[in-house]
Amino acid sequence: MDVMQAIDSRRSIRRFKNDPIDREVIRAILEAGTKAPSGKNRQPWEFVVVTGDKLKEAVQVMREGIKVFKARFGNTGSAEYSANIMEQSPAVIFIFNPGGVHPWKRKTVGQQFTEIVDVQSVGAAIQNMILAAESLGIGTLWICDVFQAYEELCKWLKKDCQMVAALALGYKDENPPARPRKSIDEITEWI
Ligand SMILES: Cc1cc2nc3c(=O)[nH]c(=O)nc-3n(C[C@H](O)[C@H](O)[C@H](O)COP(=O)(O)O)c2cc1C
Repeated sequence: MDVMQAIDSRRSIRRFKNDPIDREVIRAILEAGTKAPSGKNRQPWEFVVVTGDKLKEAVQVMREGIKVFKARFGNTGSAEYSANIMEQSPAVIFIFNPGGVHPWKRKTVGQQFTEIVDVQSVGAAIQNMILAAESLGIGTLWICDVFQAYEELCKWLKKDCQMVAALALGYKDENPPARPRKSIDEITEWI
């Protein structure tokens, strides 16, 4: 599958088959992530791959975190739904920015600029992994609902740096239609 085909056929997948994914296949997906461009080639990404019983535990931790979040802020959006999807996926990659600070910490302007650059780089790595997975016949879901259990998950994963997202992986058990996109004319100026 060439890159344009992978871009075209990729969808967010929210229903996965039970089948596990070979560790070598996950390694190939991670490898694609590391080939992304990054500001000053800092490669500001770290991954934690969670599978099997450990994934069930992580989802439990996430659910506890969502409860705390709900008690503090009321609305947890789609977090519980995303936790359910993570639970039925065979593997989840948690993605961190090792130089990034937690969202509630104060930042200097310099730190904010660095963070903007580094988070773009991590986004490029995530998209590389998604397209690599697509070309290998594996569906993905990019998940930021992990933020509703940010502190709990970082603690459980033993990561004291910025969590950027989670990526659920699995063999697809659905074939959703393409979601609508804004037209080029709506979002582009030519000058
Ligand atoms: C940064 C980011 C965060 C996302 N977080 C979630 C999430 O937490 N839960 C979820 O179900 N989908 C999440 N998505 C998937 C989007 O809902 C999806 O990409 C969008 O609706 C377009 O659909 P498509 O990916 O099938 O083209 C996220 C996507 C991105 C890029």
